[in-house]
Amino acid sequence: MKILMVCLGNICRSPLADGLLRKKVKEKKLSVEVDSAGTSGIHSGKSPDIRMQKVAASFHTPIDFLTSRKFTKSDFKNFDLILVMDKSNKSNVLQLAETNEEKEKVKLILDYLSPNEQLEVPDPYYGGEDGFIEVYHLLNKATDNIISELEKISYD
Ligand code: 4NP
Repeated sequence: MKILMVCLGNICRSPLADGLLRKKVKEKKLSVEVDSAGTSGIHSGKSPDIRMQKVAASFHTPIDFLTSRKFTKSDFKNFDLILVMDKSNKSNVLQLAETNEEKEKVKLILDYLSPNEQLEVPDPYYGGEDGFIEVYHLLNKATDNIISELEKISYD
């Protein structure tokens, strides 16, 4: 199973989602690969935003080793599940899909918190520290629920 986390810049939300799921997959010894990407290539090659790194580190979730990259069409072939942070990311990713099978791989990550509510992870980039902490709590809960789903699949 391969899961890709996607946001706009791949320096705030998706690196945290990536780091959280990597950590939990490792703790549970699940055979799941995790990566992340951004729909914009504007921060390609950069480390996660230092504000996100600090909040992640305060919750014992390392993300400093991650590097921003742009989402590409080949990600549809390389990943089984593409989890986007907001509706804008979703429409940008869906525009690159060529088949229904590819489209079906794309889901809002907060569907794992509240299915069918179309909830979004707010973009914290232009705000204060509170926004980064809110992102942490949302993604921590969503990744817990993803792990529960993955454990169900692995015991089936
Ligand atoms: P992210 O946050 O999509 O969660 O990585 C952003 C990072 C950079 C920008 C916007 C959002 N930006 O406009 O540069």
